[in-house]
Amino acid sequence: MNILIIGSGGREHCLAWKISQSASVDKLFAIPGNIGIAQIAECKNISLSKENFKDILQFIKKNKIDFTVVGPEAPLVDGIVDYLSENRCLAFGPGKVAAQIEGSKVFTKKLCMNYDIPTAKAVFFNKSDADKAVKYINGLKDYKFPYVIKADGLAAGKGVIIAQNKKELLDAMNGFFVENRFGKSGEEIVIEDFISGFEVSLLCLCDGKTLIPMDLAQDYKKIFDGDNGKNTGGMGSYSPLPFIDDILYEKILNKIIFPTFNALKTEGIDYKGVLYGGIIVKENEPYLLEYNCRFGDPEIQVVLPRLGDDVVPVLMDCASGTLNSTKLSWGNSKTVCIVLASKGYPESSSKGDVISGLEDVAGVKDVFIFHAGTGSADDNIVTNGGRVLNVVARAETFKEARKMVYKSIEKIKFDGMQFRKDIALKVEES
Ligand code: GLY
Repeated sequence: MNILIIGSGGREHCLAWKISQSASVDKLFAIPGNIGIAQIAECKNISLSKENFKDILQFIKKNKIDFTVVGPEAPLVDGIVDYLSENRCLAFGPGKVAAQIEGSKVFTKKLCMNYDIPTAKAVFFNKSDADKAVKYINGLKDYKFPYVIKADGLAAGKGVIIAQNKKELLDAMNGFFVENRFGKSGEEIVIEDFISGFEVSLLCLCDGKTLIPMDLAQDYKKIFDGDNGKNTGGMGSYSPLPFIDDILYEKILNKIIFPTFNALKTEGIDYKGVLYGGIIVKENEPYLLEYNCRFGDPEIQVVLPRLGDDVVPVLMDCASGTLNSTKLSWGNSKTVCIVLASKGYPESSSKGDVISGLEDVAGVKDVFIFHAGTGSADDNIVTNGGRVLNVVARAETFKEARKMVYKSIEKIKFDGMQFRKDIALKVEES
């Protein structure tokens, strides 16, 4: 069968890599793909905006594509899966209504509040209520800071701000309501309590009726070692999480994940695709931080290399509503992913810096390179974005996986290359 992957990041390269190992794949395609994906799939450069859905459909029909896997959130929130299924094309991912779980922070917060799913207490304001928001902020007690302010809609990972005091909260609100920093996405906002704890990512496969959790992962959001500096899209990850015991895991599932999935069903929403729970744990109690409607990046890069099964039937079962009997096998391996970022990231990114050494890592057993922000120039592979490459190692222990991944990174060079040296350090002895 022919399969199409939609997206261009490290997440999609990892999906393409795993899908390409499936016995059922004849030909793999990607829109738009990237340089790494192009080594295993035929890539076509079509932009993923809503206006181009018809071009994507045309490509699917022309190339007799049987199944499409949608990677990023924006086309999902724009309804690509509905559009394809209306045109008799099977696709993996939630429909537009279900994708609100990521596309609208207000929708998700209200769902949690209505169904007693543990999450930070929150209030909502519209741009037209800006005066009320100002009054509310001015009435907050200084000692209760920080608070979190979020744009309702998608904001390319930049729509969540932790405000340390009233001025920062008012400035952030003005950014949404007055400066229109995120356009329509920022016309409604959520202001919520800040919960301090540690975060875990639980990616769950859903077919509308059944939900199967994948193994847990943790990502590192800050740019510098020791969780210092600015937030990023993710600087590294590892899986599984040895410090989550059965009791906490059951709480995550039974207090948050299953109640959400059931709440969606009660609301008449058939959730198919990935339900990615961003969970924060405080004093051994889990709280929902946010949901995403797609695989985590760079979490999936450490989860899929641990999956013993052919991923294609599983993803197809999600899309066609036949997940019931599927069991996933994880084995005992440990995986560690390090993100190599370009000069200036996350404030800016650098393009055109020549990357060397990739050929020295290619083919090393149990080390995988997934491309994200790479490009080509004059026969060279060059940087072309903030997060450039993901280097992943798989081994029997975290210690070994860390040794392998950092040894591989020593061979890769580009001007201004940044990466964290403490990924999975805390679980090294487990
Ligand atoms: N790792 C964070 C995200 O995928 O949103």
